[in-house]
Amino acid sequence: MGEIIAVASQKGGVGKTTTAINLSASLAILEKRVLLIDMDPQGSVAASFQLNESQIKYGMYQVFTNNLPLIEAFTDIGLEYLDIVPANVKNEAEEMEMFRQAMDFTHLKQVLEPFKKVYDFIFIDCPPSLGSLTINAITAADSLLVPVQPEYYSLKALGKFIRSIKNISKKYNSGLEFKGFLITMYDKRIKKSKEIARELRYSFKKIVFDTVIPRNSKVSESPSVGKPVALFDITSPGAIGYLQLAEELLNSGTNHR
Ligand SMILES: Nc1ncnc2c1ncn2[C@@H]1O[C@H](COP(=O)(O)OP(=O)(O)OP(=O)(O)O)[C@@H](O)[C@H]1O
Ligand SMILES: [Mg+2]
Repeated sequence: MGEIIAVASQKGGVGKTTTAINLSASLAILEKRVLLIDMDPQGSVAASFQLNESQIKYGMYQVFTNNLPLIEAFTDIGLEYLDIVPANVKNEAEEMEMFRQAMDFTHLKQVLEPFKKVYDFIFIDCPPSLGSLTINAITAADSLLVPVQPEYYSLKALGKFIRSIKNISKKYNSGLEFKGFLITMYDKRIKKSKEIARELRYSFKKIVFDTVIPRNSKVSESPSVGKPVALFDITSPGAIGYLQLAEELLNSGTNHR
């Protein structure tokens, strides 16, 4: 059975989408079958693959509001091992409607259940909030991956975030595993980053991935050509970081085929 991993954080701009895309792509390069679901109405997954409106027929919006079978919302990105489902939320009214339909917190879980047999991994990119869409993701997920930028405010916010996640999972998904914090956009030239990364490891011990994703311009440039960083510049530190993360995940000894 495949593993469903929600990539979540209440904080915006910490690298959730970048991680969801590049970790998915790196696992796909390693010939794991991966499905990537965009639960964020901002629709950054589709944007990162440079998909325009004419290329997206359906997305999670139709899955939630019209009960469209998930498979009909699969959108081709030309990669053999990676399938994606975009958000496809076009305006605020649709966003409100999707949030409303997501008040059934088990909706996504039910939708994804049959696909666990088909994929090695299903990643869910979450919006930067703990609203109904993220709760759907947490309810559906086997585990949670939380990107963290090593900044001053991060540590305090993380403690609070973990407490909220524990409360949510107690109610809706008691089996949720905390896969770990992922240090992203790490700049070793900044002394403070080093200190905060060290503190994070000290405070949260084993639930911090060994792999650290460096701040790297190739990572931020790759969406502009519609590619994951590994297909843009495989030798870049960002691509190497995400491939290493994929290996770490595969070696972490869970139930992958
Ligand atoms: N390792 C990295 N090196 C350089 N830039 C990065 C890296 N990771 C992410 N970025 C950039 O940081 C910005 C925020 O990243 P991203 O969109 O993945 O965050 P997010 O948590 O999904 O944001 P949101 O909360 O809005 O959904 C983007 O411009 C992205 O290109
Ligand atoms: Mg995002």
